[in-house]
Amino acid sequence: MKKQIGNALALYPTPLVVVGTMVNGKPNWALVGHVGIIGHDRVLLSMAKPHYTNRGIRETGKLSINIVDEKLLPLADRAGCVTGAKEDKSELFPYIIGDSGTPIIEQAPVVMECTVDDIYVTEGFESFICKIDRTLAEERVLDDSGRIDYRVMKPILFEMPTYEYLSTGDVIGKCMSFGNKD
Ligand SMILES: Cc1cc2nc3c(=O)[nH]c(=O)nc-3n(C[C@H](O)[C@H](O)[C@H](O)COP(=O)(O)O)c2cc1C
Repeated sequence: MKKQIGNALALYPTPLVVVGTMVNGKPNWALVGHVGIIGHDRVLLSMAKPHYTNRGIRETGKLSINIVDEKLLPLADRAGCVTGAKEDKSELFPYIIGDSGTPIIEQAPVVMECTVDDIYVTEGFESFICKIDRTLAEERVLDDSGRIDYRVMKPILFEMPTYEYLSTGDVIGKCMSFGNKD
């Protein structure tokens, strides 16, 4: 029997990313776990309004989404502990500037450079609807067909209730292999 647990946000775990943008001409980084997919070419980032990063996103309309793996996690965690409003985080990660002008973490296995399409505002939050301009992936995480191999990349997952990081698990089957009877 299920117990009602209020209206708890239960959609976890989610992939963990570092959002990069330029603020006042310098890169700034924030750790974000509240991410979503919209269609096949857009993603959503839900970010608290006061974040320093939001200022840069609104100014430039551009951001990078850097997927976090285990190697990147210690520095990524730091990006979630301090605000760029109080501490300069521009040198936290070695970075390059991408074709869209966004800062890209060199060590990140996969990065999406995005243009902000829309902002959905709710109490205390700005959710940025982002169109993916280009995706960059380290060759070591690509399979023979050039697709990202998530068994190799092993993105870190985030869950809010215990505020912990999870690693991705084993492959348990091919999609539609259980349900497709034809
Ligand atoms: C594990 C983790 C996940 C986080 N996820 C989010 C998130 O989804 N949305 C958000 O607004 N802040 C999130 N934060 C908080 C920001 O990363 C943090 O407040 C950061 O200092 C903001 O940096 P800024 O002010 O330089 O932009 C998260 C922090 C941690 C540690």
